[in-house]
Amino acid sequence: MTRVNNVSVKPTVIDLFSGCGGLSKGFIDAGYEIVAGLDNWEDALETFVFNHPGAKKIKIDLAKVVPRELEKKIGKRIDVVIGGPPCQGFSISGKRNPDDPRNLLYRGFVKTVAYFKPKAFLLENVPNLVSMNDGKVKDEILREFKNIGYAVNYKILLASDYGVPQNRRRVVFVGIRGEKGFEFPRATNDNLNKVSSKMAISDLPQQSVEDGGNYPSPPKSNYQEEMRKKSTGIFNHQITIHTPRTIEIISQVPDGGNYKNLSEDLHHTRKVNIAWTRLNSKLPSFTIDTGHNHHFHYCFNRVPTARESARIQSFPDNFIFLGGKTSQLKQIGNAVPPRMANVLAKELLNYLKE
Ligand SMILES: C[S@@+](CC[C@H](N)C(=O)[O-])C[C@H]1O[C@@H](n2cnc3c(N)ncnc32)[C@H](O)[C@@H]1O
Repeated sequence: MTRVNNVSVKPTVIDLFSGCGGLSKGFIDAGYEIVAGLDNWEDALETFVFNHPGAKKIKIDLAKVVPRELEKKIGKRIDVVIGGPPCQGFSISGKRNPDDPRNLLYRGFVKTVAYFKPKAFLLENVPNLVSMNDGKVKDEILREFKNIGYAVNYKILLASDYGVPQNRRRVVFVGIRGEKGFEFPRATNDNLNKVSSKMAISDLPQQSVEDGGNYPSPPKSNYQEEMRKKSTGIFNHQITIHTPRTIEIISQVPDGGNYKNLSEDLHHTRKVNIAWTRLNSKLPSFTIDTGHNHHFHYCFNRVPTARESARIQSFPDNFIFLGGKTSQLKQIGNAVPPRMANVLAKELLNYLKE
């Protein structure tokens, strides 16, 4: 936080491709002001503004962003630009081709940073971005932002190293205006101190809970206690009703198991190698998906609810998802885990003061 006329001023942020705002949530909790979330998906934006009071939602196709017009809508100086452009937007073939339509989403991010000239930016993406086109995509990102005045560092981070009950890997690029590059924060949770899926969700009941319903038990772990801190009840806990056949098959898979635990004749009932996978109660979850119904609870014969998935992503229980169940699962599965974002956001504060 900087001081102007002896008053603390929060660094201002815009979140491009904001989704429901997992990344933003981490920044808010670190003391930033989220000015606006920009996305072209109404449901996610509704969730975004519901949970980030004071922030604007700007529904926009970021492939066509005109930063000057955006500036009018935002009406504030921006200190930090954050966001995760969809990875299809990174089809840079090593040589820059600004006219390639597939590049437009990434270009939207670059154009916005170049126009607003924030003190810093943070760009998040899938880890294979680093090796895409033999590393040329990553090199191009580094070069492009250097050309507009940023020292850029990147790292592939594992969310469970930062207290998230999930082994989700993401690459994060952080650019600081000027010469001094960002040093990524050390892991907060070593291998002996990871948050397991059981620690994350064992207090949530087997059956659906009407929105706002009571917790059936006190929290059973520090993590659950933390997640419930500002909560007034359970939201987004509507279970999926599976067919009797699905229930019969998944009941044969043990905690932490998968299709290999089924009899041979059932191995090919689903044509994906992640089929019939159960969470392992003793370990952080694998990367949760956006609601494909292939991953199951570690002991219940059903897929995790939106609230269970949100816990695995480290969204606190007072972060409420709007839209239908399918939409909620997609918003959650798309998100950057707020706890991981929070560790990065706190570290970044040190660079903004300088
Ligand atoms: C990976 S998600 C972002 C998740 C977000 N960073 C979070 O932490 O919750 C990518 C987002 O990009 C949005 N998106 C995709 N194409 C877009 C476009 N052309 N213009 C604006 N937003 C777009 C999607 O709707 C989606 O919400």
